[in-house]
Amino acid sequence: MISTSFTRLVGVEAPVVSAPIAMSPELVAAVSNAGGLGMLQGTWLTPDGIREAVQSTQALTDRPFGINLVIDERRDEQLAAVLAAGVKVVSFFWGDPEPYLDRVRAAGALAILTVGSAAEARRAAALGVDAVVAQGWEAGGHVWGGVATLPLVPAVKAAVGDMPVLAAGGIADGRGLAAVLALGADAAWVGTRFLASEEAPIADVYERRVVSASEEDTVYGTMFDIGWPRAPHRVLGNSTTNEWQAAGEPMPGSRPGEGDIIATAPGGVDVPRYSFFPPMAGLAGDLEAMALYAGQSVGIVGSVEPAGAIVRHMVQEAEAVLQRLAPG
Ligand SMILES: Cc1cc2nc3c(=O)[nH]c(=O)nc-3n(C[C@H](O)[C@H](O)[C@H](O)COP(=O)(O)O)c2cc1C
Repeated sequence: MISTSFTRLVGVEAPVVSAPIAMSPELVAAVSNAGGLGMLQGTWLTPDGIREAVQSTQALTDRPFGINLVIDERRDEQLAAVLAAGVKVVSFFWGDPEPYLDRVRAAGALAILTVGSAAEARRAAALGVDAVVAQGWEAGGHVWGGVATLPLVPAVKAAVGDMPVLAAGGIADGRGLAAVLALGADAAWVGTRFLASEEAPIADVYERRVVSASEEDTVYGTMFDIGWPRAPHRVLGNSTTNEWQAAGEPMPGSRPGEGDIIATAPGGVDVPRYSFFPPMAGLAGDLEAMALYAGQSVGIVGSVEPAGAIVRHMVQEAEAVLQRLAPG
């Protein structure tokens, strides 16, 4: 196993974190049970939903796991539920974590912030955040900054010194893990690879696209803006992005098929075209046309594996690469 300042800080064996790609206790527990750190998605849950998700995860693992909150708007009630449930790692994305940090600290939990530049990392360090995620532009899902992983990680590491840095964006196997460790990262934060895990509760059509897509097949922009406006993201090109591009990439209000209801979520909730909602398992309708979040690393994802096996293979392969490259 590869020990780093991050694995020691959170008390895990492997420097691999599964990004909060879905609301799935099974995925999170599988990653944590394999020695990594699973990360729950808490943003779109009610406080009761958070309590249930944390309890379900605790029933499946006694290892550490974390929870992520997107702080584009205030998440005070969710944070209170997270801390009351005893979660010890809280990750913040898409905003200023300062209003929340005292509460995280008072609960004895660790705070992680996703950054897109060295300047932001420096500010996070000054605020007393415990670790930063340096998210490169090639990442899947919502993309905070505009710098690619290869130049971003060394810049962030230089800015924060001893604070653990997690590299996100483009890492899907042990070669990628070894690469970001070489850049100075203390762990990899991996999203797209875990979409093709047996535990990820995504629709079949989404999973098939993730497994078969090439590194050229993603689109970066603000297309899927209903529910989360003005927030750049990376998705697989699909019928919605193709038709929008063919129409000359018109502004919201005059896009092809705007206003169409293309799918229905459990509970009968309508999903309009251009919604930010991805096709999770259990939805019905034209799921291919929804937001198929994925990063450029999708090109090296070729099979669906159990999440625990993904963690173990990533670490074994990184160890082998590092050994092969070691002098002597
Ligand atoms: C389907 C999906 C959903 C995501 N949702 C979130 C989220 O809720 N919060 C967050 O901090 N990051 C989210 N991300 C971004 C990831 O945290 C991470 O930065 C990204 O997946 C890393 O790049 P990779 O996909 O190349 O591994 C999401 C990514 C994907 C693919």
